[in-house]
Amino acid sequence: MTEEPRSAEPRSPAAAVQLMNVGKTFDGVRVLRNLDFSVARGSVHALLGGNGSGKSTTLKILAGVYAADRGGTIAVHGRLHATDSYTASTARRSGLRFVHQDLGLVPDLTVSENFALEGGYPRLAGPAVSWRRLHRSTRQHLDRAHVDVDPRSLVRDLRPSDRTLVAIARALRDSDGGSHMTLVLDEPTASLPRHEAEILLEAIRGCQARGQTIVYVGHRLSEVLSIADRISVLRDGVLVADSPAADLDEAGIVTLMAGQTPATRGGEARRTAVGETVLKVDRLTAGPVRDVSLHVRQGEIVGVAGLLGSGRSTLLRAIFGQAGVEGGGIQVGGVPVAHRSAAAAMRCGIALVPEDRGADAAFPDLPLWENISATVIGRYWAGWRMARTTERRDSARLMRTFDVRAASPDVPFATLSGGNQQKAVLARWLRLDPRLLLLDEPTQGVDAMARADLHAAIREHVAKGNAALVVSSDFEELEALCHRVVVIRDGSCVAELAGAELTEAAVAGLTQIDRSKGPLT
Ligand SMILES: Nc1ncnc2c1ncn2[C@@H]1O[C@H](COP(=O)(O)OP(=O)(O)OP(=O)(O)O)[C@@H](O)[C@H]1O
Ligand SMILES: [Mg+2]
Repeated sequence: MTEEPRSAEPRSPAAAVQLMNVGKTFDGVRVLRNLDFSVARGSVHALLGGNGSGKSTTLKILAGVYAADRGGTIAVHGRLHATDSYTASTARRSGLRFVHQDLGLVPDLTVSENFALEGGYPRLAGPAVSWRRLHRSTRQHLDRAHVDVDPRSLVRDLRPSDRTLVAIARALRDSDGGSHMTLVLDEPTASLPRHEAEILLEAIRGCQARGQTIVYVGHRLSEVLSIADRISVLRDGVLVADSPAADLDEAGIVTLMAGQTPATRGGEARRTAVGETVLKVDRLTAGPVRDVSLHVRQGEIVGVAGLLGSGRSTLLRAIFGQAGVEGGGIQVGGVPVAHRSAAAAMRCGIALVPEDRGADAAFPDLPLWENISATVIGRYWAGWRMARTTERRDSARLMRTFDVRAASPDVPFATLSGGNQQKAVLARWLRLDPRLLLLDEPTQGVDAMARADLHAAIREHVAKGNAALVVSSDFEELEALCHRVVVIRDGSCVAELAGAELTEAAVAGLTQIDRSKGPLT
């Protein structure tokens, strides 16, 4: 069913996608209001906003995953659809293709098999699969999208930027490179180091050069400004700006997202008084980690840089008792430790905020307040009924302190926006007051305002005489946050940077991507 838009805005014939009076209410809470914006054909259009402002919800409405409230209109290439009749198949038929943040690839299958998951397997006579035809057709799709990856490789073995490129090539598989396609990307560079992100941005520019339209959501404003033609900004579900990218700069965008000129938050990595050694890692070997030595003292934030697959996360997990140690030793507070479980590591005052919040760090179906309190449950044990009230009230206070945006502490954790899940998990661990805080990608997917707040919270924690070891793909973050940075390549320490030598460019130079070396694991 189609109908005329109720919005006063006329529909624009040059628009690939146009939203008119689109809104969304979840369980009585309105998260998007009267959204009106238009994406010009052949443009790169960025949709920006703070965590929980409604970006992913907007994209899911466009994908037909969520039905918008009645009364709005979605136009694709000039064809009007009432929101209550717009479905996933409308989106697909209209040429919209989506790459969601989790990419939707199966790591243990080959690139070809991942293509076949959506497009089906070519058959020989009978049920036998023609692998040759499958690899050949996948090769053609990859070539068309200018992706240089072997269709027979396992997705797990690909470098992260290549995984994203494969997901894009798969999304565009039936597009014959045509200009009627619109590619919609939700935070495609969130887990990529900046130099890897550049490969992806170049591929997006290539799609645009072929006449395709791109809708792009991201939190890294410098990247957004380098590819976007036009920028729309959401704040609390309301469109607050829609203008050519050339008219905006990073500071202006942050002000629009926050609704005010943000006070200088976070500040620089200040010199703090450095005390006793909290962590000493001596010639540690564990999985991909080879012979790594480092130490972290009270009052210090030490960064670990390296490409994904260089062993950074394994290093943190080994210190937290979650990865088998094959050689070398770990000391905490001068005492040798050989933790075999996270519980043992926690008793020693260590906390780990893992990279994969959804899978490793949270109980998605439990209310937010229980997720914030899960690690301190023991404190509330006595008098269960009474304790739950106290616990819920404390969690509500933590939500305010860490600016975790959710309708209430009672909503399931899974309904929080990506960045708000991140803030909630960090709040929970800081609450334990660990003397050694291990952080894996602490601000991935977090908006610019909250990022500064989280940095400030980490600094404050360390200034009290604690220590932090931080893994980040974002070298700008390492420069801003850390007192020292250890660079790991192929599982071994290759350099340490501090003081004036510690710059984003120096870290990027030392991690070095060598594309001739083949896939990383
Ligand atoms: N399935 C759901 N049920 C209830 N509320 C939801 C659901 N999905 C999203 N929300 C709420 O809608 C609001 C917007 O969320 P959305 O995921 O669109 O934010 P976002 O702009 O993508 O944020 P981020 O930058 O953190 O990814 C949030 O308050 C979120 O809690
Ligand atoms: Mg989102």
